[in-house]
Amino acid sequence: MRYKGSWYVLLPVVALVCWPLEALAQMDVWSSGGAHPVTLKPNAESSMCSECHSSISKGKYVHSAMTMGCTTCHQVKNAKGVTQVNLVAPVTQLCLTCHSIALDKVLHRPYKLGDCIVCHSPHASDFPAHTWVSQQDTCLGCHARARLKVNARKKTVRVPWGVTLTFNQMQGWMYLNLNATLTANHPIEGHPVSGPNTALGPKAPPITCLSCHRPHGANHANLLPKMPPDPGMSLCKTCGLCLDCHGGYIPSASAAGPQTSTSAWSR
Ligand code: HEC
Ligand code: HEC
Ligand code: HEC
Ligand code: HEC
Ligand code: HEC
Ligand code: HEC
Ligand code: HEC
Repeated sequence: MRYKGSWYVLLPVVALVCWPLEALAQMDVWSSGGAHPVTLKPNAESSMCSECHSSISKGKYVHSAMTMGCTTCHQVKNAKGVTQVNLVAPVTQLCLTCHSIALDKVLHRPYKLGDCIVCHSPHASDFPAHTWVSQQDTCLGCHARARLKVNARKKTVRVPWGVTLTFNQMQGWMYLNLNATLTANHPIEGHPVSGPNTALGPKAPPITCLSCHRPHGANHANLLPKMPPDPGMSLCKTCGLCLDCHGGYIPSASAAGPQTSTSAWSR
């Protein structure tokens, strides 16, 4: 199911050979710093920032850290009459000053690299855990080939919500051969990856990528919370993870209760 196209195969090689270029591109991606267009006092209050940046805290899901004020993460500096607004820590370490990294054996590359803001807004959004787009669109943004825009010359990819990543950040990437509506064909042909969970019944939450995977890390390959005991039986319908929805108990929707996969991954 892996994409065998040439740029995917070359990805790690290209990333190694073009390291200096790649570093430049990365700076372009996380353009923190630079001159702030308006002169600010170094001890500027958060309420003052919001006079001009009010839209930044709007959304159904606002990051709890926003109540601690803008300068929890942003630092105002003035030099030679020019105001600079920098982050208090490098962007890939900032989130980890308050959040601890998962101890799972398998870590998702963007998570492992500290690229938290590739998926999460640092401020607010209309989606749970203030991700830029819905959970499902987050996953499909990188793992559906058609949604990822590749710039072979700059060696970058761009996700639908506008974040640009380098080939190095995307190293090891693979995409799913889903059907035209991106709703089925994974992990086996015809299997649904979204829509109602007809295996458990109408009361079960709908299927998403996170019915089977974790977004940050897991103790089994492919970010699976559990796995069939025998790797050779990896797609055994009555093994491990698959049992969350298939077989094993009477197929009555309401009786399934805590066995639904959503409760299996959420912590
Ligand atoms: C008088 C209006 C105004 C105030 C007050 C203001 N800003 Fe800005 N800020 C702007 C404008 C205009 C831009 C450029 C357009 C944009 O990115 O929204 C900007 C850009 C930024 C950027 C991105 C560019 C860069 O310099 O890195 C950050 C970060 C930022 N502001 C943070 C802050 C913080 C933190 C405060 C409060 C300490 C603040 N701003 C107060 C008007 C303001
Ligand atoms: C939890 C940390 C955190 C807090 C709190 C925070 N920011 Fe940010 N902010 C970030 C990060 C990370 C970026 C992305 C920087 C980058 O791309 O290099 C950012 C980017 C920005 C930008 C530029 C990009 C954009 O989205 O327009 C502005 C403006 C900004 N912040 C303003 C604010 C203001 C105003 C507040 C307070 C109301 C605030 N921030 C609070 C972490 C934070
Ligand atoms: C100053 C401390 C601080 C920093 C820095 C910080 N956070 Fe948080 N964050 C919190 C607190 C406090 C909570 C609420 C308690 C919790 O869920 O752990 C939270 C919650 C969250 C949540 C969960 C929201 C939910 O609905 O469950 C996400 C996602 C998140 N932060 C992402 C980030 C990202 C991404 C960054 C880096 C840009 C970041 N945080 C940096 C303090 C911080
Ligand atoms: C590949 C995308 C992606 C990356 C990268 C990512 N997250 Fe998340 N994160 C998610 C999704 C999806 C959820 C679950 C959202 C939901 O409940 O719908 C989540 C949930 C969370 C939560 C709340 C639930 C929990 O697990 O505690 C926190 C806090 C969080 N992320 C912090 C981080 C931090 C810190 C980083 C960087 C070290 C990070 N995330 C990187 C996609 C991502
Ligand atoms: C019904 C459970 C299930 C759902 C839903 C699901 N996956 Fe998977 N996924 C798996 C299993 C099982 C594997 C391991 C397949 C194998 O061993 O061949 C896997 C493997 C993968 C891989 C690695 C593929 C490779 O070629 O190595 C990626 C990437 C992936 N899934 C992403 C997603 C995304 C994105 C979604 C949502 C669109 C999703 N998955 C939905 C069960 C699922
Ligand atoms: C910013 C791009 C990006 C986003 C968004 C993203 N992924 Fe990935 N994913 C990657 C890259 C790069 C890899 C390959 C590197 C690795 O993890 O080893 C990967 C690998 C995977 C794998 C195989 C992991 C392994 O090593 O066994 C799975 C499964 C997966 N992603 C699922 C998801 C799911 C589920 C989501 C949505 C929550 C998601 N991805 C969102 C970039 C992304
Ligand atoms: C989140 C729930 C869920 C999980 C987990 C899940 N499936 Fe399914 N599966 C479904 C749904 C919904 C259908 C659609 C047909 C139905 O209603 O049974 C389906 C259909 C199938 C079918 C074809 C129809 C049939 O009944 O023969 C096979 C084969 C299958 N799944 C295998 C697997 C395997 C193998 C795994 C583990 C890698 C797995 N499934 C994990 C929900 C799930």
